[in-house]
Amino acid sequence: MTGDEKATDGPRADAAHPARMYDYYLGGRDNYQADRVAAEAALGAAPELRAIARENRAFLRRAVRHLADSGVRQFIDIGAGLPTRENVHQVAQEIAPECRVVYVDNDPTVLVHARALLSTHPLGRMAVVQADVRDPERLLADDQVRSLIDFARPLAVLLVSVLQFVPDREPQDVVAPLRDAMPRGGHLVVSHPTQDFRAGQVGQVASTYHRAKAPAVARRKAEIERAFAGFELLEPGIVQTPLWRPDGPVTPDLPLIWMYGAVGRKL
Ligand SMILES: C[S@@+](CC[C@H](N)C(=O)[O-])C[C@H]1O[C@@H](n2cnc3c(N)ncnc32)[C@H](O)[C@@H]1O
Repeated sequence: MTGDEKATDGPRADAAHPARMYDYYLGGRDNYQADRVAAEAALGAAPELRAIARENRAFLRRAVRHLADSGVRQFIDIGAGLPTRENVHQVAQEIAPECRVVYVDNDPTVLVHARALLSTHPLGRMAVVQADVRDPERLLADDQVRSLIDFARPLAVLLVSVLQFVPDREPQDVVAPLRDAMPRGGHLVVSHPTQDFRAGQVGQVASTYHRAKAPAVARRKAEIERAFAGFELLEPGIVQTPLWRPDGPVTPDLPLIWMYGAVGRKL
């Protein structure tokens, strides 16, 4: 099934969705009552979720900027989320207007909003594809992905705050087909919540996501590291998101930021 066929399912307002809960943490308006109820339950367990979401976006921006500065011109952003400020194409194209970006998400709400955003950018350098990260083969075979991305040239795959929504598969198993499709020197960007600290609160947040029918799992650093099999980690390795190449002094309260970020280069 292509993304367009699946999109006819349409966004559902009666159940919470991770993309719209995340939008709520970030102060966005693209969320419904069911999302706000679930997000407030999660915030009740861990009020730091808003800071974690903001720091995750800041990590994403810094990673994309670094890659664009290093010459990467193609980005596949899987689990892209609802458009917000400084989306991947805006960050990358500020450095190099020729950058191409494919946004991928399995949530039809994201598809609707992202397509509306892209309609104001008729440059043919971006696409939005509805697909599931659990099915990378289908994603890699998608016509829009194939027409926009040249898999023989440097590219970056972003899995930023999405692998936790695949609780029943090891991250390395999800990443492997994507890695195999990349050229040497291709980059992988991952952020992922951890249970290495604040385990009690993290467990409560996981329960709220389970109740909202969006099961998610926080993982340990060693499990996240295995997603980088076949990659060398760029400095500083896997660190809490604010510590990945910060632009200035690190201000967030680090013990509260239970989210790791890392960038790898394919060997
Ligand atoms: C927390 S948001 C992250 C958004 C963005 N990557 C960021 O970090 O700012 C997680 C996104 O992953 C998407 N998602 C969850 N499970 C997915 C799956 N199996 N396949 C594709 N996208 C998925 C959700 O719809 C949501 O938009």
